[in-house]
Amino acid sequence: MPGYEVERAAIAITIDFLCLLYPTNKLNCSWSFDKLNEDARLSVSISICDDEKLVKSDSSPAVSHVGSRLLILQEYKELNVVLKFNVTLHRNWTVYSYSYNMETLEVLLPPPKLSAVINGSNLLVSWALPRNQLNSSNSCFEYQLDLGDQEKPRELATVLSYTEQNVDPSQTYSVRIRTRMTGLCQEHQQWSEWSLTVIVEQSLNELNILGIVSISLGIPMILLAAALMVRHQRVMKVLFPPIPRPPPKYIHFLEKNDTLGPVHAAPSVKPAEEEITEVEDTEPNSGKAF
Ligand SMILES: *[C@@H]1O[C@H](CO)[C@@H](O)[C@H](O)[C@H]1NC(C)=O
Ligand SMILES: *[C@@H]1O[C@H](CO)[C@@H](O)[C@H](O)[C@H]1NC(C)=O
Repeated sequence: MPGYEVERAAIAITIDFLCLLYPTNKLNCSWSFDKLNEDARLSVSISICDDEKLVKSDSSPAVSHVGSRLLILQEYKELNVVLKFNVTLHRNWTVYSYSYNMETLEVLLPPPKLSAVINGSNLLVSWALPRNQLNSSNSCFEYQLDLGDQEKPRELATVLSYTEQNVDPSQTYSVRIRTRMTGLCQEHQQWSEWSLTVIVEQSLNELNILGIVSISLGIPMILLAAALMVRHQRVMKVLFPPIPRPPPKYIHFLEKNDTLGPVHAAPSVKPAEEEITEVEDTEPNSGKAF
């Protein structure tokens, strides 16, 4: 019985497949058949309906067991995609058919209008509601916010802003965000691309202004202080000239005769005085000889 063999063949294989609809109207359907007999032939057909009308169909009669097909779509309103795999082995074939609707397929664009500022010690990040084809409400989106701070992205849902407290004022933050729909709104959740990175530096916040002011005031102050110290030293030299220190061998002597002080030095001067004052009239009669 052919049906039986098909059934057995079907049990043996594992099919992994996914169709994703990207923001630029690109539909990427990919598949991977694991444990499929090497002799099995695989064909894939993709049918796209918009508002229940067939708008595109694509058939690939012999494809590899792992592959993908990319289709570019026109503008659409309400998409439905039917994916059919026909596996043929030894003249037996079986068809696996799957149907997707738009909510399941859609990959979002990253949230728009990402902005980040540092206010005091807080990093404030905000963004706008992502746009999707069905105009879902805020409760349908969840986010990953990467602050570029070597930590795990912050996991957020149903909010449009985030405050990181006690931020390191010396750090530069590279903020980016991505989004996906929550499990309640989309069965096969798929993260969007990361947004462009917003760099938040400390350049114009209060702390830095304080820093600039203190640097610009600080340098002249240091120079002034240095100039004053140099001048002070000169003034000190004039007011209090350095006291000459006697050679070490006299120190002991000076300490012992401390009470005598300067008086002790006088006798050494006396002999010179005596020489000057001594007048001798040795030849009183010399004039009388002429
Ligand atoms: C389609 O998706 C598959 C699987 O994720 C990937 O390998 C492939 O590069 C994608 N193709 C394009 C054109 O994006
Ligand atoms: C599956 O493929 C086989 C041949 O490879 C073909 O005879 C058969 O009609 C196909 N079935 C469907 C439903 O397309």
